Amino acid sequence: MRVLVTGAAGYIGSHTAVELLHAGHHVTGVDDFSEGRRGIDADIARITGQPIEIHDLDLRDASAVNVLLATGHFDAIVHLAGRKFVGESVREPLLYFDRNIGTTVPILQAAQTFGVQQIVFSSSCTVYGNPTHLPITEHSPLVPTTPYGFTKRAIEQLLADLCVSQPELSIMSLRYFNPIGAHESGLLGEEVGGIPNNLMPFLMKVATGELPEFTVFGDDYDTPDGTCIRDYVHVVDIARGHVRALEALETRSGFSALNLGTGVGRSVLEIIGACRAATSHDIPYQVHPRRDGDAVEVYADPQRAAEEIGWKAERTLEEMCADHWRFTVASSRRGSMS
Ligand SMILES: NC(=O)c1ccc[n+]([C@@H]2O[C@H](COP(=O)([O-])OP(=O)(O)OC[C@H]3O[C@@H](n4cnc5c(N)ncnc54)[C@H](O)[C@@H]3O)[C@@H](O)[C@H]2O)c1
Repeated sequence: MRVLVTGAAGYIGSHTAVELLHAGHHVTGVDDFSEGRRGIDADIARITGQPIEIHDLDLRDASAVNVLLATGHFDAIVHLAGRKFVGESVREPLLYFDRNIGTTVPILQAAQTFGVQQIVFSSSCTVYGNPTHLPITEHSPLVPTTPYGFTKRAIEQLLADLCVSQPELSIMSLRYFNPIGAHESGLLGEEVGGIPNNLMPFLMKVATGELPEFTVFGDDYDTPDGTCIRDYVHVVDIARGHVRALEALETRSGFSALNLGTGVGRSVLEIIGACRAATSHDIPYQVHPRRDGDAVEVYADPQRAAEEIGWKAERTLEEMCADHWRFTVASSRRGSMS
């Protein structure tokens, strides 16, 4: 298939491009490099032995998107471009409606104009909000609690509505739980400048000594060790989920949504312990009071993904931490050489 990957210079997009190339698809990327790394195309080519072009384009520019689709003859689109930080979305809701919904409408309009019928969309477990029942299935109520989650929910609704109006469309929304880890080559991973918003990059910066200590928000929750629980899943497993989804879309139509998680919840203290083992560094932390709005426990029931697209998370927590650490060390070495 000829696949357009939006957000291809980003964390999940670059890994997805690699897995699509490994699976024999022809991949073109698009990214405005607001977050993505320039030069990542060379690393993807190094890993796969195949060149990839990543167009430098803002997806909110509808006429540029039209030109790209008019000339690309794509069979499918994997749409990952957008912003992803829950806390930032609470502070700047307009940014999230602009970056997430604002990138999606032009690409869907162009897909309609140029007859691209297969689409995979990058959604998130934040569409479920604070779950009342665990594990979370795809039938769990969709009650996002942040602007970020609302944008994902709104886009899913739009995609479902499109499939009703155009029955020939085949669209799958993948609700990722908590992607961590990196490519085993050490070339691709989550690039984070400054103070990270996400747990894993933060822990890694404490392990390297760039940040003095990690903050655990709340150790008095009703969980075995008192800290919050999430479903961490290796980014390469997530990337492979897109390959499975695209292949499944070839033989079906309509809209569906699938959870991509391991089905196993891990506490913050468990992750700190796993990172200490993987990095051989102490990783000091301090406990602060609970943060408003943090869900206590979030983990997936991934059964439907297994049944519908034959996907199952394969990599262990130890591999997630070891791969993330390898990337962190390699990327700080590259940074100090440049
Ligand atoms: N990483 C996570 O924890 C996580 C969890 C659930 C869902 N997601 C979703 O997965 C997708 C990818 O996330 P990621 O972790 O790779 O983030 P990322 O920031 O690394 O990648 C997103 C990419 O989109 C690009 N982009 C942003 N706005 C754009 C625009 N207007 N035009 C073109 N490109 C644009 C950025 O430059 C970046 O390279 C996002 O939609 C995110 O919401 C991520």
